Amino acid sequence: MVGATGEAGVWLVVDAAGERELSVAWPGGAITERSEIRREVVALYRAACEKLGVPAREEHAPEAGSRAHRGARSDHGRHAADPVAEAAEERPFSVVVRESSWSDHSDSEGSSFMEDIMRGRGTLQDYADLVAQHYYVYEALEEAAARFVGDPAFAPFHRDALARMPALEADLAQLLGDGWRDRIAAVPATEAYAARIREVAEEGWLAGLVAHHYTRYLGDLSGGQMIARRVAKQHGLDRDGVAFYDFSDLGSLTDFKNEYRAALDLLGASLDDAEKARMLEEVRAAYGFNTAVFADLGRAEAAA
Ligand code: HEM
Repeated sequence: MVGATGEAGVWLVVDAAGERELSVAWPGGAITERSEIRREVVALYRAACEKLGVPAREEHAPEAGSRAHRGARSDHGRHAADPVAEAAEERPFSVVVRESSWSDHSDSEGSSFMEDIMRGRGTLQDYADLVAQHYYVYEALEEAAARFVGDPAFAPFHRDALARMPALEADLAQLLGDGWRDRIAAVPATEAYAARIREVAEEGWLAGLVAHHYTRYLGDLSGGQMIARRVAKQHGLDRDGVAFYDFSDLGSLTDFKNEYRAALDLLGASLDDAEKARMLEEVRAAYGFNTAVFADLGRAEAAA
């Protein structure tokens, strides 16, 4: 789901014809409150199950004191959002990773800085500031990936075509001109983010590196593609300026993402519960760093 209006929810549909957005009217009619979205999405889910002739999963009551979208209990009275319990129930680890961090994804996606970019309220300077932060994060991430490249357990996750530094340099030169290196600076959250990636690599913690690798690259290959389209359209950019999001050397993005999820499943099968839990925490931390970077960028923008 990529958006919502008073009248409809908007989904990104990926099928053989490619990617497109699809608006589906709220089953209960127009809504006015954000909190009504959940009710309507549940109604749509039930309608879809009925149409497909499959049983709908029971909806669980939110647990007191927890965030509504995390606090569900399973039929066995176990905490269904407890990632390790879910893994033990043999759910693919890629699904566990995604689901246990999706509310952190929503926090990142819903930060006002990103919302402004997606709604065409961000300036070209805002976008350039974001690209500059990516520069520092990917410098750390790609140095870290280079340290693990000889490890066969890392091979299924990494491809040369993922490397973003040349594209980031080209984008910054396009957006800020020749002297771009002297005109960029990392905000404090970016410094902390890059430092954490370096720390994980220093420790030699493969699953921790994959946590950061997944959060950035799978995001760039998913919502990142939408960000590129919005920014390119708003600011009249062609490839120059949004090369960071161009992964055409990877081949089919859908195929790569599926292979990546299969690699996550295999990695999950090789980790014990404590290692899985630690990796899931690192994915959540990675989202947290991204949200903090957007908050710092928003503050810097407000102060300018
Ligand atoms: C405007 C901001 C964003 C939008 C609109 C957006 C949108 C999306 C969408 C629609 C998907 C699902 C695609 C699919 O299922 O194939 C997705 C997946 C993902 N996004 Fe975002 N996203 C945004 C920001 C971010 C940020 C800041 C990060 C973290 C750096 C991120 C990381 C991810 C990851 C890791 C996935 C893959 C989840 C999985 O399938 O396991 N996204 N995003």
